[in-house]
Amino acid sequence: MDKKIFLSEKEMPQAWYNIQADLPEPLAPVLHPGTQKPVGPEDLAPIFPMELIKQEVSQERWTPIPEPVLDVLKIWRPSPLVRATALEKKLGTPARIYYKNESVSPPGSHKPNTAVAQAYYNKAEGVERLTTETGAGQWGSALSFACSQFGLECKVYMVRVSFDQKPYRKSLIRTWGASVVPSPSPDTEAGRAILARTPDSTGSLGMAISEAVEDAVKHDNTKYTLGSVLNHVMLHQTVIGLETKKQFELAGDSPDILVGCTGGGSNFGGLFLPFVPDKLKDRPDMRFVAVEPTACPTLTKGPFQYDFGDTAGLTPLIKMFTLGHNFVPSGIHAGGLRYHGMAPIISHLKKLNIMEAVAYHQNPVFEAAMMFAMTEGIVVAPETAHAVRATIDEALACKERNEEKCIVFNLSGHGHFDLSAYDAYFDKKLTDFEHPEEAIIESLKSVPAVEG
Ligand SMILES: Cc1ncc(COP(=O)(O)O)c(C=O)c1O
Repeated sequence: MDKKIFLSEKEMPQAWYNIQADLPEPLAPVLHPGTQKPVGPEDLAPIFPMELIKQEVSQERWTPIPEPVLDVLKIWRPSPLVRATALEKKLGTPARIYYKNESVSPPGSHKPNTAVAQAYYNKAEGVERLTTETGAGQWGSALSFACSQFGLECKVYMVRVSFDQKPYRKSLIRTWGASVVPSPSPDTEAGRAILARTPDSTGSLGMAISEAVEDAVKHDNTKYTLGSVLNHVMLHQTVIGLETKKQFELAGDSPDILVGCTGGGSNFGGLFLPFVPDKLKDRPDMRFVAVEPTACPTLTKGPFQYDFGDTAGLTPLIKMFTLGHNFVPSGIHAGGLRYHGMAPIISHLKKLNIMEAVAYHQNPVFEAAMMFAMTEGIVVAPETAHAVRATIDEALACKERNEEKCIVFNLSGHGHFDLSAYDAYFDKKLTDFEHPEEAIIESLKSVPAVEG
């Protein structure tokens, strides 16, 4: 059997899959914080183009992918599905391990799957400038790349700690023509308020979202983009799972366990959502395993309730697993996994017990990343390393029980710009931090109570 399973460009999915059409129960509505009534398209119009607002609430199972979006995706798609034969050998497991390699995109992660679509719809509706936040810099570089393809201006608010730790992600963002500032920044009211309270704030995704949203609302012809969490982002990412399904058919195999790291939930959702109907229909044993850091344990420790998507409370209220919008994460190196909330779709599926979640400390996560680098050769992003850890543990459990399960994980990004995190691991400078329950209770005190 070949190690890599490729599809031709002609075999690329021509439509995105919408899980909302197949949910056993509908998602809870997104609420206006003042009225506590469901938000309508007019509430979202100042920050998103109408086509994306429609996708956010669409119940249609399939949405055709526009031709210009497919043309850009073809720069790197379809991405390979790879059998991790060397890792299997090293572990001595009877399990078959595969990974879907999303690190082959120009910015090096799954993020451009939605960045390209979002840039396209904004351009088509006459928008000239996009704003966004970025944690580790993967999303900011993906949006900058997408804007360069469609001739849009782009401003990125980058979480301060990553801005300082990852100078080359910043360079990449600038190479594709976007401007990038550390967040909290003096450029917005939200940023100035945070700096007045905590001048040496290391920033958070919640803070950077507040800044990027405010910028979009206050500037003409500018809209805001989000790299994860929202339903339309999950929709665009389903190209990953749709390709994976076809590739498994070609390989004559089928996954029993699907694994992915979860920050806002988009790379993992992209992989497993197209498999949910199979599980609901005739594969009840199929497992979907989300992996998060113990330092940001949204799905494993947070309550399922309404909360804001950002720190300043500018976004609508979203029903999700949350650590509270005031959550300030410890300085773990997987910057993309430091978000306080979780995609409503992922939260809903977790609540319905259709998927499960595990949390890991960062030292065992980097140990797994090292084993992967030494066997399969790829140096994965610290976020992705969480998925590698869980995959290895599932494969070891198969070894113990002598089970020939098929495991696939999403290799969401490479770690070429995260080597300082690997250095910190080598130098034994990574601390294993567990986010305390009391901090979650405290942070959730400021969320408005939602009736019912
Ligand atoms: C490489 C990589 N993987 C995973 C994530 C987590 O985000 P999500 O859960 O939306 O895929 C990020 C976020 O920045 C990332 O850069």
